[in-house]
Amino acid sequence: MYRGKLCLAPMVRAGELPTRLLALQNGCDLVWSPEIIDKKLIKTQRNVNKHINSIDYTLENGTLVFRTIPNLEKGKLIFQIGSADPELAVEAALKVVQDVDGIDLNSGCPKHFSIHSGMGAALLSTPDLLCSILSNLVTRVGTPFAKPISVKIRLLPEMKDTLSLVERLCATGIQNITVHCRTREMRNREHPIRDYLLDIYKICHSHKVSLIINGAIKDRLQFNSLRKELNLPDDIGGMIAEAAETNPTVFNGTGGIKEWWVIMNKYINLAMLWDNNFGNTKYMLSRIIPGKSPVFQYVARCKDYDQLKHVQNIINEKNGTVLEDPSVYLQSMVKNSKKKAKVKVKRQLNKETTTTTEDTQQSKKVKV
Ligand SMILES: Cc1cc2nc3c(=O)[nH]c(=O)nc-3n(C[C@H](O)[C@H](O)[C@H](O)COP(=O)(O)O)c2cc1C
Repeated sequence: MYRGKLCLAPMVRAGELPTRLLALQNGCDLVWSPEIIDKKLIKTQRNVNKHINSIDYTLENGTLVFRTIPNLEKGKLIFQIGSADPELAVEAALKVVQDVDGIDLNSGCPKHFSIHSGMGAALLSTPDLLCSILSNLVTRVGTPFAKPISVKIRLLPEMKDTLSLVERLCATGIQNITVHCRTREMRNREHPIRDYLLDIYKICHSHKVSLIINGAIKDRLQFNSLRKELNLPDDIGGMIAEAAETNPTVFNGTGGIKEWWVIMNKYINLAMLWDNNFGNTKYMLSRIIPGKSPVFQYVARCKDYDQLKHVQNIINEKNGTVLEDPSVYLQSMVKNSKKKAKVKVKRQLNKETTTTTEDTQQSKKVKV
């Protein structure tokens, strides 16, 4: 399933549905969901959203945790779990397994939210726990549901330690290992370490486990030449994060769409079609639109999809320039929403006063 594929990386915030769909529309082979923590997923309820034909996992307070469109992502969606507990990992995986094509465990994220409770890259320091989570997932989720289990790791500081970890991971029965070719201490701006990928590959290959490499891959063209340059076989796959966050079309064979306004339009259309959380859409647009374009500021001022649509309509489709200044419109919208908020508060106050008066009258009646 994973062999030789070029994939969209798991990315918290950035890897939501519209990004995944845009990547798939542009030649991406497999998409990872953002990491979702086991305990959070377990608390969700699965609903079929009849308005847009999506499957939604939501918390009791209505917060959407995960959305997928089965007929668009089927066969291509890997769900990433954050866990430091074999039981919780299984419980969480069982919750979504019917709607996804594979379950991945995050053992590579060095961010505080992940490692503070022993998850993500922290699992690299507890290999027994890491392997027991994976074995549990394989025997209790992967095998009975015929879905592959995989893991995403980082390199350890010493080559020999990385290789023996890979050997142990392969023995758990997983089907794929993604290696982010940086150590836990390295930042994304640092050049990845690719010296001994072939040694990692040989171990994986001997266990029939596929290998995906990650780190500073820009697009499909660069990935193909990188494989050649490093003398890596064609069945090694690649995974792209940051480059795909600013341009989810980098998977196509030509290095991706170059014009940010074209990517922006495609992204907005998908976000609106699939009812993406507006805050998330704005976050993604802040990654797609260059900070020096006036459109960046206009989008930052939008409060809802109507306003965003207005801004979208005043951008020249041919060159991304602005056809008219939307400031007056956006300002009037702010005034309108302030007015609406005031009316809402007044109504609320009136309601409360009426209720209090009714209560007083009621209690008087009772006394009589
Ligand atoms: C916005 C963002 C969110 C990320 N979230 C996750 C995550 O949820 N799970 C994970 O394993 N890695 C996460 N990562 C790390 C990436 O998947 C990837 O390993 C890293 O960025 C290196 O790839 P790149 O050089 O192509 O950016 C995230 C990276 C970014 C930029």
